[in-house]
Amino acid sequence: MAQDIFDKVNAILADINGANPQGKDEVEQFRIQYLGSKNILKPLFGEIRNVENERKREFGQLVNSVKQAAEKKFEELKAAAEEASESAEAGSFDLTAPGEPLETGSRHPISVIRNRIIETFSRIGFTVAEDREIEDDWHNFSALNTPEDHPARDMQDTYYLLHDTERLLRTHTSSVQIRTMENQKPPIRAIFPGRVYRNETISARAHCQFHQVEGLYIDKDVSFADLKQTVEYFAKEIFGHNTKIRLRPSFFPFTEPSAEIDISCFICGGDGCNVCKYTTWVEIGGCGMVDPQVLKNCGIDPDEYTGFAFGMGVERIAMLKYRVNDIRLFFENDVRFLKQFDSAW
Ligand code: PHE
Repeated sequence: MAQDIFDKVNAILADINGANPQGKDEVEQFRIQYLGSKNILKPLFGEIRNVENERKREFGQLVNSVKQAAEKKFEELKAAAEEASESAEAGSFDLTAPGEPLETGSRHPISVIRNRIIETFSRIGFTVAEDREIEDDWHNFSALNTPEDHPARDMQDTYYLLHDTERLLRTHTSSVQIRTMENQKPPIRAIFPGRVYRNETISARAHCQFHQVEGLYIDKDVSFADLKQTVEYFAKEIFGHNTKIRLRPSFFPFTEPSAEIDISCFICGGDGCNVCKYTTWVEIGGCGMVDPQVLKNCGIDPDEYTGFAFGMGVERIAMLKYRVNDIRLFFENDVRFLKQFDSAW
């Protein structure tokens, strides 16, 4: 009988030593079970009556050691549970801390300028047309009065597709002018933004890919004066209202007469600086009256209709406007550079 009681107490002792409750709630359960006011050790003290006299002392010590073991275990468990909840808190959010700013992307400077050009022309009735970058010879050259043996082809070094000399990367968006004239009846008033390619050595001033916005206006009685007014309106909108324009005689196979478009240098205002190379003028594009042969090539009667066309480089305008001195920056995708332009206008 007495041995049974010893066994029972030893079993409880083993339970205590082996217990491993996790978390505050389970530790509290442990405390209630072994150390609370109704703990399972209490009845054991009463059992001492049933132990023979010579073992009473031994039994008392055993029960006491169980109590001590329970107390010791509880202290350890309590400390471990506190530490665990502290480290869990450290890893969780501090709801009072200021939020981390969310980095949003910004618009590419070429897109900013391109959108601005589109918006400027849309105010005077120009729509936008876009088309393919891989073109055929007809739309990029032949329809534009530039047959195969024409020396003007050398003006724009062309990338042809491997094994397919009929297909090329467009060298200008004049190809979209042709497609528009082939598919629409005048009056036509549209601009043609897009990426173009030329086999140029890459440097601070030139790249093998860049962006253009070309424009076209075909109607009855369109004159060179209309072209000049349109270019002047554009230059003042983009570069400021004091800007003057100068049309310098030039040559393009698809326009006659043709001109280069210069604007008065808005940086030095006419005093001379390194942007205008002390000439007080900077070139931004080309223009001219659409050659009657080009109209014919697209099924438009040149006796009934006339028109003007113009084209300019978006990078060139962006470089002037933002004073960027290396065209390669636009293609390198360095966010430190790109971030600066989103709200720059
Ligand atoms: N297509 C010409 C170029 O890329 C620009 C241009 C367009 C010139 C329209 C005149 C008229 O250089």
